[in-house]
Amino acid sequence: MNKFFSISLLICIMIFHLSCNGEPVKTGNKNGMIVTAHFMASEIGKDILQQGGNAYDAAVAVQFALAVVYPRAGNIGGGGFAVIRTKKGEYNTLDFREKAPLAACEKMYLDSLGNVLSGLSQNGDLAVGVPGSVDGMCELHKKYGRLNWNKLLLPAINLAEKGVVLTELEAEKLNAYQDRILAQNPTKEKCPYLKRTGFSKGDTLVYSDLAETLKRIQIHKRNGFYAGKTAHLIVDEIKRGKGILSLKDLETYHSVWRPALVGDYRDCRIISMPPPSSGGIALLQLLKGAEKFNLGQYKFSSQEHLHLITELERRVYADRATYLGDPDFYDVPMVKLLSKEYLDNRFADICFNKKSDSQEIKAGEVNWIESFETTHFSIVDKEGNAIAITTTLNGNYGSKVVVDGAGFFLNNEMDDFSIKPGVPNQFGLVGGQANSIRPEKRMLSSMTPTIVEKNGRLFMVLGSPGGSTIITSVFQNIINTIEFGMDPQQCVNAPRIHSQWLPDEIYAEPKAISSKVREQMTNFGHIIKIQKKIGMMANIFINEQDGLIGAADTLRHKDSRSIGY
Ligand code: GLY
Repeated sequence: MNKFFSISLLICIMIFHLSCNGEPVKTGNKNGMIVTAHFMASEIGKDILQQGGNAYDAAVAVQFALAVVYPRAGNIGGGGFAVIRTKKGEYNTLDFREKAPLAACEKMYLDSLGNVLSGLSQNGDLAVGVPGSVDGMCELHKKYGRLNWNKLLLPAINLAEKGVVLTELEAEKLNAYQDRILAQNPTKEKCPYLKRTGFSKGDTLVYSDLAETLKRIQIHKRNGFYAGKTAHLIVDEIKRGKGILSLKDLETYHSVWRPALVGDYRDCRIISMPPPSSGGIALLQLLKGAEKFNLGQYKFSSQEHLHLITELERRVYADRATYLGDPDFYDVPMVKLLSKEYLDNRFADICFNKKSDSQEIKAGEVNWIESFETTHFSIVDKEGNAIAITTTLNGNYGSKVVVDGAGFFLNNEMDDFSIKPGVPNQFGLVGGQANSIRPEKRMLSSMTPTIVEKNGRLFMVLGSPGGSTIITSVFQNIINTIEFGMDPQQCVNAPRIHSQWLPDEIYAEPKAISSKVREQMTNFGHIIKIQKKIGMMANIFINEQDGLIGAADTLRHKDSRSIGY
C-alpha cells in the first residue's frame, strides 16, 4: 500500500470511529467537567468554574443559559430536581418541581360525564404548573454558591441580548413546532420563536424580553420572577388563555430541600432523587433486581439480558403507577418498596422462558414520547463538589405558551399528574390516587438525576431527559458500567431499550436487538417496537488515574457537549 492510501485509510478509520462512537474519551481533566445538551451552556459552565466558582455556581449559570440557548427544555418557566454530593461527601437534594395552582382540583381535566377533555393538560394555559426553576436556583446559590449572583446571570443575559445563532437541530425543532407554538400565541407578532418563512441553521435569534426578565431576576433574585413585573406578565398571560395560575401561587411557591434517597448496589452507593420524583425509587428497585439476578453474567444485548431488564421494568413501573406521588400529600411506602423482602417477592415470579402479562388496564391511545423534552446536566469542580440537575418544561416548549413581554415558555407539567385513574399521560404513564391532582401538590416525575459512589469515592454523575424513559436510560448506563464493564463513552453510546408496564411493549433503538434475539423474544410473547432514540445522557465519570471524564450523548444529540479542563 502506498503512503497516500495508508494515510487515507487511517483518516477513514478515524472518521468511521468518531461517527460510530461519538466523542472520544478525553482523560486528564482535573479542574472541572461540565456536560450539557448545548455546547454554549457547557462553555458558560466552564467559564464560571475558571472564574473561581464552584460546581453549584456553574449549575446556576448553566440553568439560566439553557433557558436561552435551549428553549425547548432549558427553562425559567418550568422546574426540576438537583442531586448534590459536596467535596466533604455530604448528600442533599433540591426539589424545585412545579406545583398545582391553588385553584386546581382533581377533576379539572374531565367533562361532566367524567371523560378526559383531550389536550387540556398538555397545551395552553390550563396545563401550566407553578414554575420552580428560579426559586430553585436562588436556593441552590444561597446554600452552596460562592460567586456573586450577578455574575451567574450575566452570561445568559448577554446571550439573550446579543442573540443566539441557531444550530441545525434547534432550527429543525422550532420548525417542527411552529404550528403548535402559533396556536398558543396567535397575536404575538414579536415572538422570537415564530417565523413565517421558517428558521434556518445560522439564524441569529435575539431575545430582548427574556433578557429584561433575566435582568429583573439578576437584580431582585426570586422577587424578579415571583413578584413585580414578571409575575404580573405571567398572570396576565395565563388569564388571557383562561388558565388558573394566580399571583398568590407565584408568591407562595417555594422549593424544598429533601434528604437524598440513598441505597447500595454491589460496591456502589446510589444517591438519587426521592419523591415527588419516581426516579430514585424506581432506579434502586431496578438495580437491586440486576444484582439479585447477577445480570452481568449474561452477554450484553443477549436475550437473557434484554428479557430480564424488561421483566424488572414491568414490575417497577407498575409500582410507580400505584404507590408513588408527592410525599407532602401521600404517604409513599418508600422503605417497603426498597426492602429486600419486598423486592425478593416482587421479582420472584420472573420466568426466563416467557414474558409475564402486564395487568389488563384500558389504556387509551398512546402517542409516542417526544424524546428530548427535559434536559439534564452534570458538573464536577476541582474540589470534588458534584451536582446532577434534570430540569424540564415537560413537553418540548412546554405548554407552548410564551409569556408576552417576558419572552419565555411556560411548562405543561400538569400532564404529569394522573388526570384520571388508568388514563395515560403523554408518556403513556398511568397512575392513580397517589398522583391525583390537589391544590399545591407536586406532580410525580421520572427525572432521575443521580450520583454514584464506588468504594466511598465519587464515581459517576449522570442523568437524562426522555419522560418515562429517563429511569431506564439511567439504569442502563449504570449497569453498562458496573455489570458489563463498558468505558464511559461506550456506556453512553450503547443502544438502549425501554419498557414501562403499560403499554405492554418494548421500545428498542434500531441497533439494540439483533434479529436472532428479536425472534427469541417475540417467541416469549414480547412486542418490540423500534424507537429512533431513547434518552440523552450527560455523564461524568471520575477516577484517580484519568481524572474527570465527560461523556456527552453526541451520537443522539450532536449539540450536546462535555467540556473539561
Ligand atoms: N416531565 C417529565 C417528568 O418529570 O418526568
